[in-house]
Amino acid sequence: MNKPKILMARAVFPDIIARLEQVADVEANQADVVWSKAELTERLRGKQGVFTTGGDRIDAEVLAACPDLRICANMAVGYNNFDIPAMTAARVAATNAPDVLTETTADLGFALMMATARRMAESEHFLRAGQWTKWSFDMFAGSDIHGATLGILGMGRIGQAIARRGALGFGMKVVYHNRSRLSPELEAECKARYVSKDELLAQADHLILVLPYSASSHHAIGAAELAQMKPTATLVNIARGGIVDDAALAQALKNRTIAAAGLDVFEEEPKVHPGLLEVPNVVLTPHIGSASIPTRMAMAGLAADNLIAFFTGKPLLTPLNPEPRA
Ligand code: GLV
Repeated sequence: MNKPKILMARAVFPDIIARLEQVADVEANQADVVWSKAELTERLRGKQGVFTTGGDRIDAEVLAACPDLRICANMAVGYNNFDIPAMTAARVAATNAPDVLTETTADLGFALMMATARRMAESEHFLRAGQWTKWSFDMFAGSDIHGATLGILGMGRIGQAIARRGALGFGMKVVYHNRSRLSPELEAECKARYVSKDELLAQADHLILVLPYSASSHHAIGAAELAQMKPTATLVNIARGGIVDDAALAQALKNRTIAAAGLDVFEEEPKVHPGLLEVPNVVLTPHIGSASIPTRMAMAGLAADNLIAFFTGKPLLTPLNPEPRA
């Protein structure tokens, strides 16, 4: 029997390709070319599987042009790059890479919150620019993390991991808002109190966004929500671009509607809103939430394991839609 054909949409650890080659013919992209949708579609024709990252969009148009496609494995927990209903209708399996990145991403969220509150990027730029000629009493004085109120919007696995860090490690008071409330046991474990979105915005000293992107979370934080926050508050987005209205945030940072922001994700990635590049009170990182070597290896391994399971007739590890082989 012919081996199935798999396309790697982006570059990945070489041993992942070697593992996939045991069950499939693999077209790799180790030059890491970012293909347009048309190029991706062209290369996907005649392939049964694809290994994607969060930037590779698989929608109804791609599916219609690639009728041989049977499985798309995303090396990301977020899957807003996949049109799941269209995949289900086309009987194409979809998988993501949850759990393995939870703690690493929570670490980055916490690091970004601390860097933002304590003005670390701004002060480092000042030092590197040779502007540090004397110490002064209020130089880069920011806000405290310990004892402050941590607000979390989106209380899935990563939100809970951030809550534990804040409550147990830093004595923070944790409030959260989520589509559904956690069980009393989980709330107690995370030491987190459920509040309305309005209360969350009003109470948080540091607000972290960890909700998935969807049409309903588009611009969940815009000018109106920023105006509800404390002028001393900080905002951190490690979830997805588009959850925050970047233009409104740039304006709010300029006007000091809020004190500062830390952003790992952006509306037009990898482009960053020019207004955000102009203001000093924002820490910017290039979508590196899950970027530790062990975690990126685990994410790639999980995406590969889903492909291998599919083509060797085993159950998928982290399916996103009904099993099309069933
Ligand atoms: C990263 O953004 C992911 O969704 O894994």
